[in-house]
Amino acid sequence: MLERTLAIIKPDAVKKQVIGDIIKHYESTGLHPVSIQMMSLTKRVAEGFYAVHRERPFFESLTSFMTSGPVVVLVLEGEDAIKRNRTLMGATDSAKAEPGTIRAAHGTSIEENAVHGSDSPETAHFEIGYFFPAMDLT
Ligand code: CMP
Repeated sequence: MLERTLAIIKPDAVKKQVIGDIIKHYESTGLHPVSIQMMSLTKRVAEGFYAVHRERPFFESLTSFMTSGPVVVLVLEGEDAIKRNRTLMGATDSAKAEPGTIRAAHGTSIEENAVHGSDSPETAHFEIGYFFPAMDLT
């Protein structure tokens, strides 16, 4: 099924200058960017985006990290885009990410893990609307 998912290239990957390499990973697996925006998240925007993690012990650290430098936010479109992007990203903990995945190549820890990707159709709907409110979500 043709789907859309939200991806974020996180501040650690932007600092490492691997934006191009990560987008190449997406394109070479049939995940086509249909919207891209580079931006610096405010603390309030990062907190709203990760609101489901508000009670987690890593919430403060995660939102500080996500506001530590610019990010690239993308909507990717492709067959089974949500699941395929999760596979392409690799495990959340970069140290456990499978060889060939984006996190194995560019992540350094569980927090500095290079990329984010929506984990379900409901999350993708929320996350795409969060960053691209003008986008047609039907
Ligand atoms: P992401 O896919 O963006 O979704 C939530 C983020 O929280 C996750 O990637 C990690 O960057 C971060 N995260 C998840 N678990 C932990 C943890 N145990 N310690 C620190 N950060 C975490």
